[in-house]
Amino acid sequence: MKNKISPKLKNIRSSILTPIAFLLMAIFAILFFYTPYMADKNIIDIAKEGSIIVLALVTYTSYTLVKREKRLLKTNDKLEKKLKNILLDFDKNVIASTTDMDGKITYASELFCKLSGYKKEELIGRNHNLIKHGDMPKAMYEEMLKTLQAGKTWRGEIKNSTKDGGFYWVDAIVSPVLDGSGKVIEYNSIRQDITSKKELENLNESLKARISKAIAEAQEKEQHMLKQSKMAQMGEMLSMIAHQWRQPLAAISSTASSLEVKMILKDIDIATLKSGIKDIQAYSQHLSSTINDFRNFFIDSKVLTKTSFESILNKTIQIVKTSLDKRDIIISFQNHFEDEFCIYENEFEQVVLNLIKNAEDAIVENSIKNGIIEIKTYKLNGKAVFEVFDNARGIDNALMEKIFDPYFSTKSKKNGTGLGLYMSKIIIENHCFGTLEAFNTFEGAMFRITLNPNEFSLPPDATQ
Ligand SMILES: Nc1ncnc2c1ncn2[C@@H]1O[C@H](COP(=O)(O)OP(=O)(O)OP(=O)(O)O)[C@@H](O)[C@H]1O
Ligand SMILES: [Mg+2]
Repeated sequence: MKNKISPKLKNIRSSILTPIAFLLMAIFAILFFYTPYMADKNIIDIAKEGSIIVLALVTYTSYTLVKREKRLLKTNDKLEKKLKNILLDFDKNVIASTTDMDGKITYASELFCKLSGYKKEELIGRNHNLIKHGDMPKAMYEEMLKTLQAGKTWRGEIKNSTKDGGFYWVDAIVSPVLDGSGKVIEYNSIRQDITSKKELENLNESLKARISKAIAEAQEKEQHMLKQSKMAQMGEMLSMIAHQWRQPLAAISSTASSLEVKMILKDIDIATLKSGIKDIQAYSQHLSSTINDFRNFFIDSKVLTKTSFESILNKTIQIVKTSLDKRDIIISFQNHFEDEFCIYENEFEQVVLNLIKNAEDAIVENSIKNGIIEIKTYKLNGKAVFEVFDNARGIDNALMEKIFDPYFSTKSKKNGTGLGLYMSKIIIENHCFGTLEAFNTFEGAMFRITLNPNEFSLPPDATQ
């Protein structure tokens, strides 16, 4: 705006100065050339000729001045109109206000009125505090005042309230207006409506909070299910422990009874006593190691361990052996992946146990005479594959899609929670970044775990 007006003002100034300069120059030229000629003339002629020339010059200059004045007025009109339009545009499209030093509003733009819901006359003369929103900290206004009083411009985002109790957000630039001596006499403020931007920001924030909450809830649910599934396994384990303990407990009891009888009959020598005690110690040792197997299995640790399929399977078979033997189920293991790799061993053992128990359950349920569970491991395209086969007629095709769902079970409530495969999938796919799939073979079901053996590595100083 300033750039457009100043050349016009310059033009006006030069249009007035040029004819005056011309008149002065003409008078000077006449005086200069006319002086020698004056000597031959009498004073009356000089006066006559001089006044004619001066009159002509003054007439011409006046004509030019009047013409230019008209042009000047026209330009002035045009400028005034332009300025008025600019001010109207400003009033309509800019949220602006001016306040005196006490914060009393002396000017409020139309857009400011529209946004705040107040009429101009309701704002003028009132304190700017009128639109202050309770959410804005007092410290912000104090800092603004400090900046303005120092003669500097303040900029920031402000939440203001509307007449009807609503609010809007603005990005405000507030600057002090100084008088000729540099003293602050009033404050000007222009603002941009950023309510939608703020609403979007708030929406983003609340979305983020909701997503984190949902993730936390899902993790908690998963943790809960993992516990539930472990508890169910624990129930099965107790009956397995009972089976495994039956035989050594009976042996301890019979050894002790035989020693007792021999002692009553006084038919005992030190060697027999020693051997009996040794037997009891060996059986107790066996009981203790069985308990350790189960205890290790249930330690709730998600620790990366360097291990192998063979080591994992040996431990798992140790646990299920008695139960499988009792049901005449043969378990075989063809290991073609002998490398060691890092994995959450306890969790992986839990999965293997789930798969073996499911196979055992299916064999029992379908009254398969020569129940066989085969475990095969091999390397395929750099991946470690672990497969569990059984010969229990497989999974009904209609159920295939559901078996990994939580709480899906075809067993009675007492015998199955339906969490075994769901948790196994979470452990393999979410914790170990592998895959767990189910297929039907000619004879039964097959579950395949595919892992990347290089997915995890132990820190160099870890001693596992
Ligand atoms: N080897 C298998 N042969 C046939 N069906 C199977 C086999 N493994 C799983 N299933 C089917 O998948 C269902 C879900 O198995 P999942 O291990 O999740 O639960 P569950 O064994 O029923 O209960 P839980 O594992 O809590 O004891 C089983 O009820 C069964 O119908
Ligand atoms: Mg199961």
